[in-house]
Amino acid sequence: EFATALSRIIQGEEPDKASLIILLSARPGEEEEALYREADNFRARYVGEEVHLRGVIEFSNHCRRLCHYCGLRADNRRLRRYRMEKEEILKSARMAVELGYGTVVLQSGEDTWYSAEMLAELVATIKGMGLAVTLCVGERSREEYALWREAGADRYLLKHETANPRLYHRLHPGMSWEERITCLQWLRELGYQVGSGNIVGLPGQTLEDLADDLLLLRKLRVEMAGIGPFIPHPDTPLGSYPAGSLELTYRVLAVARLVLPWAHLPATTAVGTLSPNGRQLALQRGANVVMPNLTPRKYRGDYQIYPGKICVNEEPADCRYCLEGMIHSLGRRIGRGPGHALRPLTEN
Ligand code: SAM
Ligand code: SF4
Ligand code: FES
Repeated sequence: EFATALSRIIQGEEPDKASLIILLSARPGEEEEALYREADNFRARYVGEEVHLRGVIEFSNHCRRLCHYCGLRADNRRLRRYRMEKEEILKSARMAVELGYGTVVLQSGEDTWYSAEMLAELVATIKGMGLAVTLCVGERSREEYALWREAGADRYLLKHETANPRLYHRLHPGMSWEERITCLQWLRELGYQVGSGNIVGLPGQTLEDLADDLLLLRKLRVEMAGIGPFIPHPDTPLGSYPAGSLELTYRVLAVARLVLPWAHLPATTAVGTLSPNGRQLALQRGANVVMPNLTPRKYRGDYQIYPGKICVNEEPADCRYCLEGMIHSLGRRIGRGPGHALRPLTEN
């Protein structure tokens, strides 16, 4: 059954939910090995040997939302909050140029202290440095997304988190799954390269939900998909639930490579946090992107979306050299240039 489902997907048959569930249930040993081997083959064939580095600047940990899993949620009084000044953010972006990164990701909690105009100015200045810019600042109005796109933003990251609306509503008080999808549609219409993605191992999540995540990513024709495990944070409502399984995360990642062959798939910081060689394995099971931390060290410990996050004691340059070693040890090379989407928006 597993072998049939795998060969049908490899031959390019339109995936259905039942066969995705079979693939996601791959058993340790032969089945998992076959799945990972095919994912690595697809990775090599469609996106090649280059591993793209996206430098992430976590410029504010203030957030108006209450996501049940996240340490930045508004209710978490234990977190020391910070906001980076404009000049400090630009300094980090210059560091990206120095370190040879082609893309800067501006990421934060949902912090409306930064007006749309302020962020647009930042985007334009950073674009002027010759970098591609990805924004990851949550849900905003269509007008704001449009302004940033006009300012030159290339990509936008907004994970759908889970394709199960009931689970989504349980974990995101005051938010709506439908609005999240609407935001993703706006971003697409405005010409962004769109990144979405989901968390693996959320309390109450089923394999069927994960199959739906993959079908949704296909339907949205995302250029990028971030797929990472749930990691419990003690100061959140989900603090006492177990972490998502690393093996299941790899299976979702590998199947994602098969159903989204051209997508950029990061080896996430979260898999690196759950295991010392977590990102290396991800890169061998479908991933082709890594997102080194560019945040100044003094703020890193406070961008605690989950505990134990890696690189908290490192400086930006440390991560650069660490990743270079990692990529070369896998026989791969660092991507050059902006590392844009590999296929036009309308195909895939
Ligand atoms: N606030 C923006 C948003 O939510 O889109 C961007 C920053 S948010 C910290 C980035 C991602 O962190 C979210 O999309 C979510 O998937 C992830 N995240 C937050 N808490 C997590 C946890 N405890 N375990 C795994 N991923 C988590
Ligand atoms: Fe805020 Fe994003 Fe964390 Fe939700 S996941 S609480 S929106 S930072
Ligand atoms: Fe930061 Fe390895 S990527 S130290």
